Amino acid sequence: HKPAADGARGLRFAPVAPNTADQVTVPSGYGQNVVIRWGEPILRGAPAFDSENQTAAAQAGQFGYNNDFLSLLPLRGEYGKQVLVANHEYTDEILMFRGYDAENPTREQVEIAWAAHGLSVVVVQEERRTGKLTPVTRHYLNRRLHTTSEFELTGPAAGSALVRTSADPEGRTVLGTLNNCAGGTTPWGTTLHGEENFNQYFANGSSETDKRYGMVPGASERKWERFDKRFDLAQEPNESHRFGWVVELDPYDPRSTPRKRTALGRFKHEAAQPRLTADGRPVVYMGDDERFDYFYKFVSSKRMMKGSSRRAREHNLTLLDEGTLYVAKLTGDSPAAEIDGTGKLPNDGEFDGSGTWIPLATAGPDGAVSHVPGMTAEEVFVFTRVAGDKAGATKMDRPEDVEPSPRSGRVYVALTNNKDRGKAGKAPADEANPRNANKHGQVLELAEHWDDPSSDGFAWRLFLVAGDPNDPATYFAGYPKEKVSPISCPDNVAFDPHGNLWISTDGNQLGSHDGLFGVATHGERRGELKQFLTVPKGAETCGPIIQDRRVLVAVQHPGEIDGASVENPASTWPDGPGKIVRPSVVAVWRTDGRDIGV
Ligand code: FEO
Ligand code: CA
Ligand code: CA
Ligand code: CA
Repeated sequence: HKPAADGARGLRFAPVAPNTADQVTVPSGYGQNVVIRWGEPILRGAPAFDSENQTAAAQAGQFGYNNDFLSLLPLRGEYGKQVLVANHEYTDEILMFRGYDAENPTREQVEIAWAAHGLSVVVVQEERRTGKLTPVTRHYLNRRLHTTSEFELTGPAAGSALVRTSADPEGRTVLGTLNNCAGGTTPWGTTLHGEENFNQYFANGSSETDKRYGMVPGASERKWERFDKRFDLAQEPNESHRFGWVVELDPYDPRSTPRKRTALGRFKHEAAQPRLTADGRPVVYMGDDERFDYFYKFVSSKRMMKGSSRRAREHNLTLLDEGTLYVAKLTGDSPAAEIDGTGKLPNDGEFDGSGTWIPLATAGPDGAVSHVPGMTAEEVFVFTRVAGDKAGATKMDRPEDVEPSPRSGRVYVALTNNKDRGKAGKAPADEANPRNANKHGQVLELAEHWDDPSSDGFAWRLFLVAGDPNDPATYFAGYPKEKVSPISCPDNVAFDPHGNLWISTDGNQLGSHDGLFGVATHGERRGELKQFLTVPKGAETCGPIIQDRRVLVAVQHPGEIDGASVENPASTWPDGPGKIVRPSVVAVWRTDGRDIGV
């Protein structure tokens, strides 16, 4: 494959070849720095990282583990500074603690893991003439939110009997956010954080709904239930109903309590990215990352107020509490017989069709209404997957991150893979999910009717069918495949200032490491996909942000290989031999100081 060094504006760089180097590899002419690592102190009083003397108290003031979603927000009045918000999805105890015994974790190890989850807010300073960023420790906006921090439940399920527990009989105050995967940044200056695989933290699942959300009988993997009974569903059956939400954080108010927005439904939220209607109402697109789960949107009934006045900010913090939650049903336009499960294009030359948004429930100022027969509105919001089942939503190949194009309004959905597609008793290939035993995933492009994000119907087509371009079962928007980079398992998506889509991957099935790719979405080069960077061994690439002069990525779970441990590391990135592997954020820029890819 010979992707060219020229390309669409924003993508003019010499592509990085697939590789297995234990480092971040960037195009020639580009530089990089590690912006912040797991364990670096960000709060006043937090000590420097010491891998051999970790404590929960130290971790609560340090950058958390396994950075995933990233957002960079402007900071007016402070020259060269921006606010970085990061998700810390989960902990890899075996890579964090020397001699970790998974059957018998200590209380200190468990409490360190609690403090290493959640969110970080840290102000970063840019270096003149490069894209290098460094953390501003002890800035007044810096913040850590983790498993014992307070969160407020808001919206239609707040206070419901389904979310009350012995510690919180009102059902409105939750301790902690867990498994924050991807997220989004709102036009009103807040960040959204998906609570994804929260099921793994709970022991002794037993109900039908527990099962639908992946909570099973027996102990949890991390044994947290031994140290706090709320993680034992046999003792606190409703505690898990308080996770699996979208969290909204106001990073500009360091004293604010983050909110879990129940109007956006409860599932394994990968991400949440808003777009405004013509009259200023936010529409939030959201994927449920599980094999055969659904794609959703929430349409607010309230308009955003412009400006940064106190009144506007307070109003905008209510936008995600009232509106309608929908689930997507996709119908292909080619005869079913032409979708044979191999990925062969149907006779009309495209995997495409139409779709409908099925309303599930509406939250209003005077209460909520269910649109699903047999379920109350509160049940729809808390057991949204069950509502999607009853509504006949389309079973997708793991909907991960989603991003509306700021230029065209088209919405791009990463469907990462689905090894079970077409297996006995499982859904077979359909036009939107056209490969059985789908190893490499696809990217769907959705166009709302009349370009109105609140529309109840849309057109869709597959933009990419990922894999080795030599594999006939791949598709790059019709672009000549000899000119593109191979890509596998799209996960996070972002747009650059030129309207190109950038895609980061998790779980590359082509034998090389994960990475970050840019692809043109319009013009003659639509579909020309080029690899921009690769990450170290065992890592996935997360949180991409593409600014004019800088690319930011989160390198998540480096060294996470079966059998690896602190004593037997698979990766020593970023600090080198003899040092513990550390998930970190990396900035990349052009050494000649010009914009990325121009
Ligand atoms: Fe946490 Fe779906 O990736
Ligand atoms: Ca078709
Ligand atoms: Ca992800
Ligand atoms: Ca993933």
